[in-house]
Amino acid sequence: MTSPTVVRSARSADRDVLATIKIASWTSTYALLVPHHVLTSFIDPARQLDAFERLLADPSQRVLVAEDVDRVVGFITCEPAHADGPYVDSLHIAPDRRSTGIGRRLLVAVAASLVTEGFDTLHLHVLEGNARARSFYEQLGGRLAGRGAAEWAPDDVIEVTYRWDDLGSLSQV
Ligand SMILES: CC(C)(COP(=O)(O)OP(=O)(O)OC[C@H]1O[C@@H](n2cnc3c(N)ncnc32)[C@H](O)[C@@H]1OP(=O)(O)O)[C@@H](O)C(=O)NCCC(=O)NCCS
Repeated sequence: MTSPTVVRSARSADRDVLATIKIASWTSTYALLVPHHVLTSFIDPARQLDAFERLLADPSQRVLVAEDVDRVVGFITCEPAHADGPYVDSLHIAPDRRSTGIGRRLLVAVAASLVTEGFDTLHLHVLEGNARARSFYEQLGGRLAGRGAAEWAPDDVIEVTYRWDDLGSLSQV
């Protein structure tokens, strides 16, 4: 059966649903992985709405959403011109739509668009303890390439880095 889910570029009108998905994602996944005082600022609706408003207006950022017939169910953000090469900052799927292939579609779609523009690498950071996401990236060919304090909570959170050095293969998964 063909999936009814489509992938498209985000629009400014997606701001509210992207903030909602990110807050649901942090609440469901990160609550056990980061200290409460760190989590609170990332699940604050006003702060997230403001952050997405700026993100969606920033031409250096690429944001793709996955949309079912009736709602947006996931998104990915990427900064192609990041100083260390193309960088995925966020990938979140609505909790009730995980493990149905949407995260893979969004990551592959970003890879394909980067390849079209002549980029051949991608990297991202993920919480060291986020076993499900690490397994997801490893299944898709990500190579463990570093470990260090998270920029957004350097005293409290350790992240690991995954890299793809041949984006062409990821774009064809
Ligand atoms: C991590 C996340 C983005 C993955 O997206 P997803 O849509 O759930 O994953 P998919 O269904 O596309 O799975 C793709 C592959 O990941 C692996 N995978 C899927 N479910 C898995 C699970 N429960 N455990 C481990 N690996 C799994 C499989 O290899 C799967 O391939 P398959 O479909 O051939 O079995 C999503 O679960 C999510 O939003 N998690 C919370 C937020 C988060 O941790 N984001 C990452 C921040 S860096």
